[in-house]
Amino acid sequence: MIRINENYLKLQASYLFSNIAQRVSDFQENHPERKIIKLGIGDVTRALPPACINAFHSAVDEMAEDSSFMGYGPEQGYDFLREKIAENDFKARGADVSSQEIFVSDGAKCDTGNIQELFATDIRIAIPDPVYPVYLDTNVMAGRTGSFENGRYKNVLYLDCTKENGFIPDLPENPVDLIYLCFPNNPTGAVATREVLKTWVDYATENRALILYDAAYEAFIRDETIPRSIYEIEGAREVAIEFRSFSKTAGFTGTRCAYTVVPKTCTAYDALGEKHLLHEMWNRRHSTKFNGVSYPVQKAAEAVYSEEGNAQIKSLIDYYLKNAALIRKEMTGLGYACVGGDNSPYIWIDGKIDSWKFFDLLLNNAGVVCTPGAGFGKCGEGFIRISAFNSFENVKEAMVRIREALS
Ligand code: MLT
Repeated sequence: MIRINENYLKLQASYLFSNIAQRVSDFQENHPERKIIKLGIGDVTRALPPACINAFHSAVDEMAEDSSFMGYGPEQGYDFLREKIAENDFKARGADVSSQEIFVSDGAKCDTGNIQELFATDIRIAIPDPVYPVYLDTNVMAGRTGSFENGRYKNVLYLDCTKENGFIPDLPENPVDLIYLCFPNNPTGAVATREVLKTWVDYATENRALILYDAAYEAFIRDETIPRSIYEIEGAREVAIEFRSFSKTAGFTGTRCAYTVVPKTCTAYDALGEKHLLHEMWNRRHSTKFNGVSYPVQKAAEAVYSEEGNAQIKSLIDYYLKNAALIRKEMTGLGYACVGGDNSPYIWIDGKIDSWKFFDLLLNNAGVVCTPGAGFGKCGEGFIRISAFNSFENVKEAMVRIREALS
């Protein structure tokens, strides 16, 4: 008899963003005349930078000739891209990462979801609350979380991110083995200082733990004192894996390109306490289950590091940050406490009422889609997240409508 993985039965509802999309589509069906402004899922709306488009076009032309055609590429990514990444995203900031430690992939969502395959199913995991749902759900699927009771999984150590701790989690009181961190944070928009990251790296070192560091939003950091990579912190090469993405940095959500850094010095242990290199394990996994990102997409990603590409992505991000500043200013003006939006595209707003109620209120009365904080975990209850990914005109209109709906 074919049997299912019963861990799937422990998952709560459907994936958050599918659930929201369904509600929005039902609403639109019942109100076809309403123009909905989407500030929910963090999906970019601006065109790819011209430098990326040009590189994309040339690479497609190369594929059109037998003499320059490319078949399977290296599973880990082409060296032309890995070298640019190592040079610009790490070495230029004093972080010691080599091109051979970079694994190019089709998304940080896939990588943050898949990486847990490398670890035992009975390790202790620490996950922030609120959190990007992929970290939690993939551990539920793998059978690491236990059952769901009173709004939480029994075997997960939740790292509460609240007003009281400035949305920066405190170190766990009980020892853990695997720690998920995300800065600039999705959903709260909070950023971690060098000192905060140092305490986590030290914790991981002392406890023989590992940090999974999601830095998908690092390009939004404007405060120069804030680290963009965990490898700017001494000791991180031994205890951290970092995830990056071109999605929000360069508008690649529909194009798909990301990368994961697994330093060759990063280790984990078997049951006998013997050390193993995670780089070798991830390489084995990646080359078995993944056939690489397409050549034209990697050429487009490489163009991000050209002089024009660099200037273009900076203005792209400035554009979204201008939206974020407007959202934060307007919501603060309406009397709502906000975090994020300065070094992040997300604004985390204390809605002071049930977050799905706030979501419905904005959808029904303003035709604006946000993300209810409760969808990111228990500590998100009472909050909503507004995303800055839309046109400035739409964001302006959304804020006028929200003001009317809430006044
Ligand atoms: C979000 O809105 O949290 C993200 O866009 C989802 C994602 O990147 O998968």
